[in-house]
Amino acid sequence: MTRRMSDPRTQPEISPDAYRDRVQDAYQDLAVCVTGGAGFIGGHLCDALVALGARVTILDDLSNADARHVGTLIDRAPEHVRFIQGSILDPSALSEAMDGVSRVFHLAALGSVPKSVEQPERTWLVNATGTMRVLKAAQQAGASRVIYSASSSAYGNNPTLPKREDMAPEPESPYAAAKYAGESLCRSWAKCYGIDTICLRYFNIFGTRQAADSAYAAVIPAFIKRWVHNESPTIFGDGGQTRDFTHVSNAVLANLLAGASTTNLNGEVVNIGAGVRTSVSELASMIHARMGIEGLNPEHAPERIGEVRDSVADITRAKELIGYEPITNLEDGLATTVDWYNQALRDEREGAA
Ligand SMILES: NC(=O)c1ccc[n+]([C@@H]2O[C@H](COP(=O)([O-])OP(=O)(O)OC[C@H]3O[C@@H](n4cnc5c(N)ncnc54)[C@H](O)[C@@H]3O)[C@@H](O)[C@H]2O)c1
Repeated sequence: MTRRMSDPRTQPEISPDAYRDRVQDAYQDLAVCVTGGAGFIGGHLCDALVALGARVTILDDLSNADARHVGTLIDRAPEHVRFIQGSILDPSALSEAMDGVSRVFHLAALGSVPKSVEQPERTWLVNATGTMRVLKAAQQAGASRVIYSASSSAYGNNPTLPKREDMAPEPESPYAAAKYAGESLCRSWAKCYGIDTICLRYFNIFGTRQAADSAYAAVIPAFIKRWVHNESPTIFGDGGQTRDFTHVSNAVLANLLAGASTTNLNGEVVNIGAGVRTSVSELASMIHARMGIEGLNPEHAPERIGEVRDSVADITRAKELIGYEPITNLEDGLATTVDWYNQALRDEREGAA
């Protein structure tokens, strides 16, 4: 495993003080497991958990992550971080990862809508069957709660805005279908097996360390990468499609609040967003302005199959159930994120030259 302490790309972006006020000492010395903890959101969650004093076991097969950030975490707190490279489909890796843990944060998944259209069975296996195996292992290990990373894609193209949890789900892609199945499993495990669960339906999470180099890259790093290379980014569709772009610190806070709650959460589903609607074209303009780019305006390509048109969260239920309120707005989150990628991608370009 490569460990580069000095690499700015691996450093935590968010001060733990932002969370400490909200969860007090709930995580001090608590044993937890984070599946997908080497990934984008999982990595930020692990930063916070370690800073709050938790003992964290990360289970990740590194299929969509490099080990750099995990290496930094181990360097930072060797007694508090254990890394198991393995799959959530492997019962022995799961039982090793969950031995003695009290909370399981389940983030491991195949995260791309377009890839799920190409590989529906693989997506179902990891995202649905994998979630069932995580629940089973957590229950067998005696964990008290599983906190599941669900997806707002469950709402599909229902035109009603904002999205509320009592709306009928209309998944439109194999990814959405499998993530929604994961919610049903969490609920059924809470009802049938005496393990508490909660489903956090994320709305377009962004922040540092999100993969910028895959064909399915999330829109923010994908735009920045093109501009760093003096190329126009591509907007799929007319750019008028809207999203609730939510800074990763808000998703981390939601996980921490859900894990610390003293209420029985009983498989409930809660939206985790910022509650603000922004079009992809507006987002591109904000990034363009922050980077100080001249010209190179986005080009348009046909809309992608399975993508929803509009999305924004009603976050009332998350407020009521776990006391969630966003702590970072789009402008502030985007400023740090754009500056970070701008630097990291320029360093990478110069390193490759
Ligand atoms: N990023 C978003 O905007 C968003 C929105 C809605 C829901 N989510 C959900 O949040 C979670 C985290 O997403 P992310 O954006 O951090 O994605 P990510 O791809 O960065 O993280 C997922 C991690 O899971 C790991 N993984 C994949 N398959 C695995 C397997 N079989 N066993 C063990 N590990 C495996 C990957 O290596 C990766 O590290 C996912 O469940 C995703 O569906 C994310």
